[in-house]
Amino acid sequence: MKEQLEKIYESAVAELQNAASINDVAQIRDTYLSRKGQLNEIKKGLKDLSDEDKKVVGSLANQISQKLEEALREKHELFYKKELDEKLAKERIDVTLTGKYVPHGRIHPITSTINEITTIFQTLGFSVVPSELSPEVETEYYNFDMLNVPKDHPARDVQDTFYTSLAKNVVLRSQTSGAQIHAMECQNPPIRVIAPGRVYRNENINARKNNFFHQIEGLYVDKDITFGDLKGVLNEFIRIYFGESRPTRFRNSFFPFTEPSAEIDVQCIMCQGKGCRICSGTGWLEILGAGMVDPNVLRGVGIDPDVYSGFAFGMGVERLAMLKYAIDDIRLFFNNDERFLKQF
Ligand code: PHE
Repeated sequence: MKEQLEKIYESAVAELQNAASINDVAQIRDTYLSRKGQLNEIKKGLKDLSDEDKKVVGSLANQISQKLEEALREKHELFYKKELDEKLAKERIDVTLTGKYVPHGRIHPITSTINEITTIFQTLGFSVVPSELSPEVETEYYNFDMLNVPKDHPARDVQDTFYTSLAKNVVLRSQTSGAQIHAMECQNPPIRVIAPGRVYRNENINARKNNFFHQIEGLYVDKDITFGDLKGVLNEFIRIYFGESRPTRFRNSFFPFTEPSAEIDVQCIMCQGKGCRICSGTGWLEILGAGMVDPNVLRGVGIDPDVYSGFAFGMGVERLAMLKYAIDDIRLFFNNDERFLKQF
């Protein structure tokens, strides 16, 4: 058995000398040192020997195992280093090369304007209605009926509103005001919400009009809400949005769902009220419609107008973005010209 052991050792060492890679080393380890390897086979035979022989042969077997282990490890390390060096040489990268250009997107100016306005109203205590209460595809019921819009109102005309073929009376909403109704149906006063979103109108497209655009609706219903609250909130909004207090003008107007109603102008940003091309010489720019919620609207959603009152407003997002960034054509927002979008 001693001779056998020595032979095994010699042939293992000889094989190791011829090994050419980490794989070869692993294979040799497998042949000689694994559980089914040659050395173990010998060790299994030890039990048939006398106690005396067991000691001698056993310790020799262990010595050989250890020596072999050591030799295998050395070889393994040698090849490992060699293979690593080769790999490093082959995969060397030139860190001085210029990188690949990876174009990255940015936030669209309409989105960032919506975010900015939303944040302002959040700081004033308004919360955003959940999107399911502000759908773009709406029924005439929410877009018009519940907002006190007469059946024969011209805004309902196909010339102004897009009707869908989904079902009778289903429209692409022409205003975000329907969200007022959804909000009041789902919540009791006090209600203080805004609803940003896209609206659609059957317009001839030009520098000032597109057939879809964005609005931010606002609604505040509680006891003792007055027109003074409306003015206070909107003036504060204008001050924060434009970064300074700007003269405003509340003009008498009409909306079926507010009474009284107003259209609100800010002094022209370009000419400071002197009159220019942007404000058509008037010195003023209209930015939103607003008013006190009509008692009929409150009654429709089961809110008692003798107890509660409220104000509502709707502003055009494109309009506000155009004023702030001095953009003179609404179509720029929608034709995705990178030269334009890159500037934001
Ligand atoms: N919905 C109106 C529009 O689109 C704006 C508005 C909203 C007016 C709320 C009054 C109150 O023109």
